[in-house]
Amino acid sequence: MRSTPALNPLLLYFEDEQESAARIAQAGGLNLCKIERHRFPDGELKLRLPPALPAQVIILRTLNQPDEKLVELLLAAQTARDLGARHLTLLAPYLAYMRQDMAFRPGEAVSQPIVGRFLARLFDALITVDPHLHRVATLQEAVPVANAIVLSGAPLLSDLVAAQRRQPLLVGPDQESAQWIALAASRHGFEHAVCHKIRHGDHAVEVALPDLPVAGREVVLLDDVVSTGHTLARAAQLMLTAGAISVDVAVTHALFAGQAWQLLQDAGVGKIWSTDCIQHPSNAVSMAATIAQALSGLRAVASAQSAG
Ligand code: R5P
Repeated sequence: MRSTPALNPLLLYFEDEQESAARIAQAGGLNLCKIERHRFPDGELKLRLPPALPAQVIILRTLNQPDEKLVELLLAAQTARDLGARHLTLLAPYLAYMRQDMAFRPGEAVSQPIVGRFLARLFDALITVDPHLHRVATLQEAVPVANAIVLSGAPLLSDLVAAQRRQPLLVGPDQESAQWIALAASRHGFEHAVCHKIRHGDHAVEVALPDLPVAGREVVLLDDVVSTGHTLARAAQLMLTAGAISVDVAVTHALFAGQAWQLLQDAGVGKIWSTDCIQHPSNAVSMAATIAQALSGLRAVASAQSAG
């Protein structure tokens, strides 16, 4: 039996993610509605959702610049429940606060499980792309929701690299990138390696190149995220000094904090490609179809849970 449109899952979005929401809704045949947002003169927020919600609701919020967005999620998720949503999915293409997964010095807040538990109290399911999971094995350990789905930008970035470069050498700038490098390299049989990185501070990184010849090679540096840009800039400088004929960059999440873009230009990076998990001029690959497929897979599970 076909479901009526009123029973279809609804994708809720905030105005600044309208384009991304439209791409996902189109790819997945979803109903779409904006969350209205008002800021009071004193800085507080008021949200307004559609007054009658279906049982299954998806809230799209990519979590770059996350602090205010976490308050939005608190208000939106609780209101969605009050308005009839029985199964709530958070679609956060970029998931913030995943890198602080231990106290590096006594007294530090371990943000990953704190934010993870906060989100898990609000949502039944989470879909995200290339979360930075280093010392935990699964997303569910970090965000203990009933359904935690991890997608990756690496396959699509790999396809893009294959279309743009004939015999690229795929390099990860640090050990953590090995998972994405392996995924991207195996798809097209690219030669690959990872660097060794030591981070001394926000703007200070030390990178050691892998032990393989790079002279005359077209290098593509691939990573989950560019933030300050220091990691990729340092790796690019070293590659070019070692004789690489070009260094391009492919990342899932284009955070580009501060002077990151200029830093990569100054380091001699050629092309910079990213997915549309975070809206940025470097976006070259859309995750919409991949996300729509994951949402469709989740739908049967959500139906069962929201009926129960
Ligand atoms: C860390 O391991 C990540 O994979 C990135 O390499 C890192 O977060 C990039 O940060 P930044 O651009 O500030 O060097």
